[in-house]
Amino acid sequence: RENSTVSITVVGASGDLAKKKIFPALFALYYEDCLPEHFTIFGYARSKMTDTELRNMVSKTLTCRIDKRENCSEKMEQFLGRCFYHSGQYDSEENFAELDKEIKKHEAGRLSNRLFYLSIPPNIFMDVVKCASKSASSANGWTRVIVEKPFGQDSESSAALTRGLKQFLVEDQIFRIDHYLGKELVENLSVLRFSNLVFEPLWSRQYIRNVQLIFSEDFGTEGRGGYFDNYGIIRDIMQNHLLQMLALFAMETPISLDAEDIRNEKVKVLRSMKPLQLEDVVIGQYKSHTKGGFTYPAYTDDKTVPRDSLTPTFAAAVLFIDNARWDGVPFLMKAGKALHTRRTEIRVQFRHVPGNLYRSFGTDLDRATNELVIRVQPDEAIYLKINNKIPGLGMRLDRSNLNLLYAARYSKEIPDAYERLLLDAIEGERRLFIRSDELEAAWALFTPLLKELEEKRIAPELYPYGSRGPVGAHYLAAKHKIRWGDLSSEHYKI
Ligand code: BG6
Repeated sequence: RENSTVSITVVGASGDLAKKKIFPALFALYYEDCLPEHFTIFGYARSKMTDTELRNMVSKTLTCRIDKRENCSEKMEQFLGRCFYHSGQYDSEENFAELDKEIKKHEAGRLSNRLFYLSIPPNIFMDVVKCASKSASSANGWTRVIVEKPFGQDSESSAALTRGLKQFLVEDQIFRIDHYLGKELVENLSVLRFSNLVFEPLWSRQYIRNVQLIFSEDFGTEGRGGYFDNYGIIRDIMQNHLLQMLALFAMETPISLDAEDIRNEKVKVLRSMKPLQLEDVVIGQYKSHTKGGFTYPAYTDDKTVPRDSLTPTFAAAVLFIDNARWDGVPFLMKAGKALHTRRTEIRVQFRHVPGNLYRSFGTDLDRATNELVIRVQPDEAIYLKINNKIPGLGMRLDRSNLNLLYAARYSKEIPDAYERLLLDAIEGERRLFIRSDELEAAWALFTPLLKELEEKRIAPELYPYGSRGPVGAHYLAAKHKIRWGDLSSEHYKI
């Protein structure tokens, strides 16, 4: 190990993702002493920049965690000293060969390991993969490539991309990021289920009435309209982030915690699901709204979005898993931008207690069932809604929470998802990355629906910026006799 190096090349170094997430995550890993002794970071992009300019740019994005303020600026300086810049075209083997020379200088004859992070638009993935693998891959160690979504737009384009990547890379070299898998509470899902006796026995159609996966943002596509309009919320959030959480939630117990065992189980769940139908889905798009004298823009007010765009910024869907464990249990998904709150959570609504003795003492039948909430963000928490007797001489029931609020329980700041994922990629841990058969199964579920929506030009229901989204989502849930575990302040303040 002492004799090996890791060189990390951030391709698209001046982009938003690199600045906001990748460099800060690398620095956090450095600060935590998680990076190997000999590592070097290269920024690669077309624009001309010196090492100093790159360092200045990167330094603006670095922060230290509250509990890690000691030596912060010293550590930053050391880290920046390991960052270099190389300017080049994305489709030039020659430019990548120059990068190779630079990397070699820093490797100084040690065993060479190389990680390329493609923080670039998908239309240039292939050029970069080709040039990097031909001209800048490691001769004696490993070469890995991290790619970010979008992985195509539908089954066909995604398969074409996978085929393309595999001309130059084997599956083991491809690390497809879904950053939701790096989030603390998503990782914790398996721990919750498989290391506690009390949950797993309840984890089936026998006790669970429905499961809700909810993603809500309180801001629009500001500044990203150009990208977003080609994808829409179903491709941006549902087909990946929410579906991945669903797969982890619903999978059978894996044989072990090995990446292949876990991913095998996830694929099985995805392949047990039926492709979505139009009637299982409601789509929406936010419109302008004036509140407190301020006018929030409509999605189509974005200059980079066509005025007549039908791209959904909100979608709700009902999915079913046709296997013995989940037969008939609705899995509801809801994802939206420009809603009234920012929140991602999984809500598990349990069945009614059979012959509940206390039924008449509750206030509302629907509320009397247990509900387990895994709040992924913000204010990470796991809480279980239970019925409880209100203290006193009478017999009145109340809904209360058994409650694990992370901020109260753990004083440590939670690392960003990108830290976990970058570290795993460096260590060759593939558990949290998407295998190509998983991706294929995920697209198979959504592609027919997306095609139909687009071919029939189905108009989204408009909802005001900052609202709770289209009412259609409530009718969709009601069809299955479900109420969304609503995101009201009553639920929020636990
Ligand atoms: C990205 C989507 O994958 O996830 C964005 O493209 C979205 O549209 C983002 O805003 C949300 O990520 P997070 O970690 O901020 O919840």
